[in-house]
Amino acid sequence: MLFDLDGVLVDTAKYHFLAWREIAKELKIPFDEKDNERLKGVSRMRSFEIILEIGNRLMSEEEKEFYCAKKNERYLSYIKEMPSSEVLPGVREFLTDAHAAGYGIALGSASKNSRLILERLELTGYFDAIIDGTKVEKAKPDPEVFLKGAQELGLPPEECIVFEDSQAGLQAAHAGKMFCVGIGTPQRLPEADLCMPGFAGVTMQQIEKALLSHSRTL
Ligand code: BG6
Ligand code: MG
Repeated sequence: MLFDLDGVLVDTAKYHFLAWREIAKELKIPFDEKDNERLKGVSRMRSFEIILEIGNRLMSEEEKEFYCAKKNERYLSYIKEMPSSEVLPGVREFLTDAHAAGYGIALGSASKNSRLILERLELTGYFDAIIDGTKVEKAKPDPEVFLKGAQELGLPPEECIVFEDSQAGLQAAHAGKMFCVGIGTPQRLPEADLCMPGFAGVTMQQIEKALLSHSRTL
């Protein structure tokens, strides 16, 4: 089983938004929560490039690096204060069940802060493999992050299930020939093989049953 991090295990999107909004404000670029949707699942640098596109601005690589580093400092100031209770409802229980049922568990995230966040949430111990933004060359929708996760778990991609909340992540899972559970609504994630709002109340049996029937709702 492969899990995305932001938006699947924890709602860090709000902290990414707050940090990017400060940068956008400094650069006098309009940036709201709707714009923030476009940043989900994409890398830090690509996120900043999208903000620059919104503001119709061009910057040198050096300047872009400067603002990305500044954004990350702001983001980390929120993350460092984040209590472990911010793990999304049902996640800890689901990971416990998956682990007890003998499933290999891997993280597949674009975030270079993944390890720190897993530590903050006290979730590190559940993971047999952690593939994050420090370990991949190509960002989602490229399947690299999930293929590496499958490889570290010693599983063929066709036997993996991916849990994702972003369009880019769903595309990455499908490009890797994996079954993909969308965390969100079917309207927002029409490409998902199955959608659920989150892990609250979700059992392993339900996922296994859905896998067998390829149903799109739980
Ligand atoms: C993804 C988030 O998980 O990680 C993106 O959905 C974020 O919004 C990306 O830009 C990179 O995160 P970080 O922590 O390396 O800046
Ligand atoms: Mg995500």
